[in-house]
Amino acid sequence: YGDIPPLKSVTPYPLGVATSATKVSDPAWSALAARQFSRLTAEWEMKMEYVLQADGSLKLDRADKMVAFARRNGMTVHGHTLIWYAQDGEYFQKLSAKPDAFLNAYVDYIAGVMGRYKGVIPSWDVVNEPIWNDGRGLRPCLWQKVLGDDYIGLALEAAHRADPQALLFINDYNLELTPKKRATFLKLIETLLKNGAPLHGIGTQTHIDAGITPGLIRSAIADIASLGLKVHISELDISLREDHPTPVAQPRIDQVRTLNELLEAYQDVPANQRYGLTMWALRDSDSWLNTPQGGKSLIPDEPVLFDRLGRPKPLAQ
Ligand code: XIL
Repeated sequence: YGDIPPLKSVTPYPLGVATSATKVSDPAWSALAARQFSRLTAEWEMKMEYVLQADGSLKLDRADKMVAFARRNGMTVHGHTLIWYAQDGEYFQKLSAKPDAFLNAYVDYIAGVMGRYKGVIPSWDVVNEPIWNDGRGLRPCLWQKVLGDDYIGLALEAAHRADPQALLFINDYNLELTPKKRATFLKLIETLLKNGAPLHGIGTQTHIDAGITPGLIRSAIADIASLGLKVHISELDISLREDHPTPVAQPRIDQVRTLNELLEAYQDVPANQRYGLTMWALRDSDSWLNTPQGGKSLIPDEPVLFDRLGRPKPLAQ
C-alpha cells in the first residue's frame, strides 16, 4: 500500500491511535501505526491502575517505552488519564480518612506523572468520565467523597502547576447518544471555566454504534465546540455489533455514513479548536471491543479503520 498516501497526511488535524504498550514492539503494528498516525495514546499503561503502586511509588516503565516509540517515529503523545472514577487504588483508599494527606497525595500523583513528561507530553486527559451515564450529575467516587465536588478543579490546578505548558482536557463518553449527559457535562465545564480553572479542551470519546440515529453526532460536535475550547475526538470506534437498542440494518453502510457525519461535523469546527481525532485501536483485532472485558459479548467486531491484516478498509478511504 506504499502508493496510498498515509491517513495522517490527509486530515487537516493530528490523527491519533491508542494502543497497549506491548504492541509497540510488534513490527507489523509499529510500521503501520507510525506510517498512518501522528499521535499516540496509551490505552491502559498511563492509568492509575498500572502506574500507582501500593506504597505510593510510580511505575512508568511502559509509559516510557511508548513515549520513546512515539518520539523515534515523529509522533506526539496524548496522556490518558490522570484521575478516573473507575480507578483509585489501595494507596488512596488507605488515606481516605485523612483528607489533608489525601489531597497532598492527589497533587503529588498528578505532579509525579506529568512532571516526568514535562515538555514531552503536550496534553493530558486530567479527569476522565466525571458524569453519570444518565446525566443526573457527577458520578460518586473516592475523589469526590474525600475532596468534594471540586476534586476536578483541584486536579486541573495541580496539573497546571505540574506543567504550565500542557493542554488540559476533560474527557467523557456518550455525549452524542445522551444529550442530557452532554448538557450536564458542558455545564460542569462552564462552571469550572467561570471559576478560573485551567482547562483547555474537551474530549468526546465517541465509542459509538454504526446505527446511531443520524444527526446526533452533528449536534453533539456543534454543542461541544460552542464553548470555544479545543475539541478532541478522543477514542473513536464505530461498532458493527447488532446487540444494541436500535437494530443496525446494514452495518457496514451505516458505519461509513456515521463516520462521514462525524468527519463533516468536525470539519465545521474552527481549525484552531480541532485538537485531533484518535482511533481507539489500529486494527480490528487490536480493539478492546474484541476482548471480553470491553464488549458485552464475543461477537467479532470491526470498529476501526484497518482490518486484522492491516489493510485499509473502505471506511479508511
Ligand atoms: C479501555 C481500554 O481500551 C482497555 O484496554 C482497558 O482494559 C480498559 O480501558 N473509556 C476510556 C478508556 O476512557 O480508557 C477505556 O479504555 C475505554 C472507555
